[in-house]
Amino acid sequence: MNHFQHVYQQVYKEGELFQITRKSKTPFTKKSRRSNSVAVIGGALGDEGKGRVTDELTAYFLKKYPQVIHYRDNGGANAGHTVEIGEIRIALHQLGSGIMQPNCVVVLGKEMVLHPTDLIAEIKAVLKATKTKQLPATLKIEELTALSLDTHRAFEAVLKMRSTGSQGATGRGIAPAYADIIYRHPLKMRDLIASDWSKKFKAHYQLYQAWIKGMGFDLSQLEVPRLAGPNVLVGNETQFLKNIAKTRATLKPFVQNTSALMNKYWQQTTPMVFEKAQALGLDKRWGVYPDVTASNCSFDGIWSATEGSVDPNQLAVKAAVIKATYTSSVGARRLPTLMTNQLAHRIRKDANEYGATTKRPRDIAYIDLPMLSYLMKVGRVEHLALTHLDISYLDTPIKVCVAYEIDGQKVDYRPDQKFLDQVKPIYLELPSWDGAQAAQAKTIKDLPSDALKYIAFLTKSLQIKPFMLTTGPKRSQSLLYW
Ligand code: IMP
Repeated sequence: MNHFQHVYQQVYKEGELFQITRKSKTPFTKKSRRSNSVAVIGGALGDEGKGRVTDELTAYFLKKYPQVIHYRDNGGANAGHTVEIGEIRIALHQLGSGIMQPNCVVVLGKEMVLHPTDLIAEIKAVLKATKTKQLPATLKIEELTALSLDTHRAFEAVLKMRSTGSQGATGRGIAPAYADIIYRHPLKMRDLIASDWSKKFKAHYQLYQAWIKGMGFDLSQLEVPRLAGPNVLVGNETQFLKNIAKTRATLKPFVQNTSALMNKYWQQTTPMVFEKAQALGLDKRWGVYPDVTASNCSFDGIWSATEGSVDPNQLAVKAAVIKATYTSSVGARRLPTLMTNQLAHRIRKDANEYGATTKRPRDIAYIDLPMLSYLMKVGRVEHLALTHLDISYLDTPIKVCVAYEIDGQKVDYRPDQKFLDQVKPIYLELPSWDGAQAAQAKTIKDLPSDALKYIAFLTKSLQIKPFMLTTGPKRSQSLLYW
């Protein structure tokens, strides 16, 4: 019997639950840590609901403090974080989810890659949704943040046409933008707003033109995607520069040295919410190729992006978000626990499992404990936010993978497609509950008892404390452990 099967015995046969509410302490009181700050990371393969969790936490701190910092440190226009506030439902990409909240300072950090035109489109979308002339939150963009441009998107598209390159990419030019950093020639936000900006952008265009020409294409004739509206042509050098020029004046007021700012806020003990993008299972060190992303998806990225102003290990809460009853996945990876039956369609429809940025239908898979426990370990996760507790059907038990076998032998998870293609998942079937009933719960104690058992099983299996539960997309549908 392995660890997960042992936990199953404890919870389902011996009736061992966890303490439902903490008696006195909130998770934000750790003495040795910064008590009012939290980092939230994707615990599986992305799209777990980080946007709504961080939005919620920002709102929570804003009730207690006059100001909250909401920081994003990785990824770019590939992320899609959906936030619902009252009647407003908006998919955010590069902006932090706190952008809708007055008294919040949203910082776009040094290790993101930002697409200027898409960023402006997103700012406009927020203004339209909130029916305001000014963003509700204060926006700060790090001057040293690298840019991701149409050239990167075009280059990625060309690479994708070869069997060896960029398979699994979202097409937002994320990997080429990060590659520019490694090649030591990134264009940065500061370059965009500088008075002599055009020289560097010209040189950049010419480099990508030469690379793309070498692969048999004409950069000016390639189409690239935009967050808003249809694909556009990259155009010739003049058109490219003209497009860039249009973004400079709008973005300039937001650009500054945010490292100094974060240092100041850290000293002032201003609460901070860190919203990581993508997920541990998409990190190039721990994900399955080719569906991995170029940015640092771990908590450590907070330290490097803030240049040591914020030590993630000092934060009271380091929480991973995972979908409680299933996992979703986009891209080419072949998951051992992929669902191929009607249940996948039902979940996709009920949970709206389509890419927030790309609109792609997502694959749906059973919960895979060998994979999740691997990701919790490499990610040094300390708390769990479990979302989608409303996605459970009384007529269908919840199947959970508790072990992998190859030729009858138990094997541990490895992020390697060749290995994953060989494994046979071993499942347990657990009692489900009425998802609609869970969606009505006002406190954790109101949840159906089988949901509570399941939460105990999951958190004990992963050996991580529960921190927050969600039973639907609305703010009122989150249940806190304090
Ligand atoms: P890229 O870095 O945008 O090119 O994406 C690389 C891989 O990460 C692809 O398989 C994407 O599907 C995946 N990915 C990137 N961003 C997200 C996200 O926000 N949610 C889920 N998957 C993502």
